[in-house]
Amino acid sequence: MTGNGRVRGLRSAVPYLRLFKGTTFVLKLGGEILANPHALDGVADQVSLLHQVGIRVVIVHGGGHQASDLASRLGIPVETVAGRRVTSDETLEVAKMVFAGKLNTDLLAALRRAHVPGVGLSGVDAGLVHARRRPRVEVTDPDSGDRRDVDFGWVGDVESVNPRLLVHLLDGGFVPAVCSLAGGEDGAVLNVNADTIAARLAVALKAVKLILLTSTDGVLADAAKPASLISHMDRSRLEELLAHGARGGMHAKLMACREALDGGVPRTHVISGLRDDSLLTEVFTNEGCGTLIENDPARAPEDAP
Ligand SMILES: Nc1ncnc2c1ncn2[C@@H]1O[C@H](COP(=O)(O)OP(=O)(O)OP(=O)(O)O)[C@@H](O)[C@H]1O
Ligand SMILES: [Mg+2]
Repeated sequence: MTGNGRVRGLRSAVPYLRLFKGTTFVLKLGGEILANPHALDGVADQVSLLHQVGIRVVIVHGGGHQASDLASRLGIPVETVAGRRVTSDETLEVAKMVFAGKLNTDLLAALRRAHVPGVGLSGVDAGLVHARRRPRVEVTDPDSGDRRDVDFGWVGDVESVNPRLLVHLLDGGFVPAVCSLAGGEDGAVLNVNADTIAARLAVALKAVKLILLTSTDGVLADAAKPASLISHMDRSRLEELLAHGARGGMHAKLMACREALDGGVPRTHVISGLRDDSLLTEVFTNEGCGTLIENDPARAPEDAP
């Protein structure tokens, strides 16, 4: 790019910089990003830019696939019911090692390489995420149609969040990175869906954006067709996709987006964390690159970033 081109690019970002300076973004990183050093470094570089221009960034991550991998290497059986993992006593131990140990540390190291002052936390720190152990639930197997009562073990549902510690860190210029473990009753540690934690923290922090970075380019009209990206969704389309069309991990993401929108977060985004510069493209250009989901259908994506 020529010098002039670079200056033009910088100028085109000025309205966004003005709008976003001092605001909070909550980013959730999917497991495939944490497993891919190139993608992780790319995201860390982009977070560095957001941080440098005065955006208060909070990162949330899980890592269910990596926990299952380590469990199987240790010979610990991982039970899943209708695509959802059961967290036994032993797999909870593995989740602690993998989420708060390896993955959080690798993320912090990538942030450090990008000169971002990251601070690693879990939802257990300072009462950040309080959860309740999920009661037995009746689950229908999507393949066989069989119904059965399932105890998901040490899986928690978020009851409340207390972002006081995050506010202190953000005020001090740090970038908190929270893994998806929560505190339960009597000192229990619970495994909680990271998309949900991100949504609840976004609401509590009055974030202007919840951005879910995943392995697809965004929300697809047809999960089997990567080219069927939906770039803009209003509330009714979101409800439609929740009813049909979004399964498994994407269903959890859309539920999290709905929770954030209901709680006052104006814009939620599902974007690729694997493609170069996707985060900056989504935040600093009108076209974006992933899926923007917002409440108000009257506002076209061109109206505001
Ligand atoms: N309509 C859809 N559009 C896009 N992806 C879909 C859709 N329906 C189902 N999916 C699946 O959802 C997956 C994304 O959720 P998944 O939970 O696997 O990733 P993640 O949340 O980013 O990672 P992690 O759970 O490790 O944090 C996609 O890879 C795809 O297989
Ligand atoms: Mg997921």
